[in-house]
Amino acid sequence: MKFDIKSNSVLDEQLGFAKRVTNLLANTYGTCPKACVQTFGCQQNVSDSERLKGLLCEMGYTIVENMQEADFVIFKTCAVREHAEDRVFGNIGMTKQIKKDKPNTIVAVCGCMSQQEHIAEKIKKSYPYVDIVMGTHVEHRLPEFIYKRMTGGKRILELSMEDNTIVEDIPIKRDGKFKGWLPIMYGCNNFCTYCIVPYVRGRERSREPEKILAEFRQMIKDGYKDITLLGQNVNSYGKGESHGINFAKLLRMLNDVEGEFVIRFMTSHPKDCTIELLDTIKECKKVTRHLHLPFQSGSSRILKLMNRYYNREQYLELIKNAKERIPEADFTSDIIVGFPGETYEDFKETLSVVNEVKFASLFTFIYSKRNGTPAAVMEDNVTRAEKGKWFSELLLAQEKVAQENINKFIGKTYRVLCDEVSEKEGYMLGHTNGTAVIEFEGDKSLLGQFVNIKVESYNNGLCGKII
Ligand code: 5AD
Ligand code: SF4
Repeated sequence: MKFDIKSNSVLDEQLGFAKRVTNLLANTYGTCPKACVQTFGCQQNVSDSERLKGLLCEMGYTIVENMQEADFVIFKTCAVREHAEDRVFGNIGMTKQIKKDKPNTIVAVCGCMSQQEHIAEKIKKSYPYVDIVMGTHVEHRLPEFIYKRMTGGKRILELSMEDNTIVEDIPIKRDGKFKGWLPIMYGCNNFCTYCIVPYVRGRERSREPEKILAEFRQMIKDGYKDITLLGQNVNSYGKGESHGINFAKLLRMLNDVEGEFVIRFMTSHPKDCTIELLDTIKECKKVTRHLHLPFQSGSSRILKLMNRYYNREQYLELIKNAKERIPEADFTSDIIVGFPGETYEDFKETLSVVNEVKFASLFTFIYSKRNGTPAAVMEDNVTRAEKGKWFSELLLAQEKVAQENINKFIGKTYRVLCDEVSEKEGYMLGHTNGTAVIEFEGDKSLLGQFVNIKVESYNNGLCGKII
C-alpha cells in the first residue's frame, strides 16, 4: 500500500490559521502570551510535543514550564498503562482553578489517551473546562482549533484518523541542544495483544528517506551530536514503500553524513531485527552500541499469547548473534510481569532470560489491562499482590546483574558526549555511545563536545578522568 505524503497545502492552511491566532493574541493579551505543554509517556510523545511547541511559537506564544502562568495549556497524553492515564486526569483537574482565575485560558488534551473515544467522551462530560480534545492524527491542526475556539466556536472534539498521511515540515522547537529526536515512522502494525498503541496511533507509515536525511543534516548543522531515530518499530522502516530503503540502509545513509555524532534508535521489535541490521550496526561506527530489544516475557507460551511472533529460543539466538557481531554493545529491554494466564513457572523463564542476557538496564511493567485489546478479555487469575511479589523479584535479579556489569567498565576508555552539568560541583556528565553515563572533572566549556574518559571507579555511578 502506498501512503500519501500530505501536500504542504495542509500545512500552509494551518500556518494561515497561526497568523490569524497571532493577531487575536496581540489584541487579547498585548504582551507575550504564554503556552505550557505537559508531556506524558514515551519519546515519541516528547518528539510530537516539540512540534506542538513549534506551532505554538509560530502563533506567537512563549513556551513556559509552569501551567499556572500559561494562557494556553495542552496535555500530550499516554495510554499505554492505566497509571499514566490516572496521572493525566489528575493534571487536567488542576486546570479548573487556572480557568477560574483566568477565564481566557485555553485548555487542550491530545495524544494517545484522547484518541480513545470513551476517554474523549469522559473528558467532554466530566471536564467541561477543557476546550479542545484532539486525537493523534490531527495535532498539526492545533492553530485551526485555537483560532476557532478563540473566535467563539464550540468546544472542539476531533478524533478523525486520517491514517495514510504524514504532514511534513511542521515547525519544531526542540527541547535539547545536543541531543535530539527524529521521528522516522509513525504507528504500529504488530497488534501485540496487551498493547493499545496500534489502536490509538494507527497503521505504520514511514517518512520519505529524503525528508529524514534533510532533517538529520539540519540537526547536525544546528549542533546536535546525539540523534535518536524514533518509531514504534523502527526495524520495519520502509516496508511497503517503493524506494527500497529499509532501516539498515537508512542507517548507512545517515552514518555517511559528515561530522562526529551518535545515531541512536528506538524501539526495535525482535522479530524484525535482521542479521543485515546487526552487520550494519557493526560497520557503521557512528551508530550506537546499544540495542533496545523488548522481549516482554521469557516464556514461549506467554509470547504466543502476546502475539509477539518469536519464541524464547529465537530471542536468545538474536542476542547471541548480536553479541557475536557487536561484543561491546549494551542491551536493554522491556518486560511485562503478570500478563493474563502467566504462571510463576512462566515468570521464572523471564527471570532466566534476565540472568542469561545481562541487560545494562530494564524497563519493567506490571501488566495493565487496556480496554479494546485482545488481552483485556483473557482470563487473569493472579492477584495484583502476587504480581507485585514477582515484580520485586525481577527488580532484585536485575540489580544483581547491573552490579556485575559495572566491572566491565573499570579501566576502559570511552569517547563520551559531554552533555550535562553534574550535581557535584566542578563535575560534568558524559554519555557513551551505549547506555553508560560517566561523571568526570570539568566545566561547562565542555558542553556539546566529545571527550575521551578513562573510567576509574564506581560510586553510585561511573567516575572517570579526561585523558
Ligand atoms: N501493560 C503493561 N505494560 C505495557 N506495555 C505496553 N502495553 C502494556 C500494558 N498493557 C509496555 C511494553 C512496551 C512498553 C512500551 O510498554 O513492555 O514495550
Ligand atoms: Fe505495542 Fe507491540 Fe506495537 Fe510495541 S510493537 S507499540 S508493544 S503493538
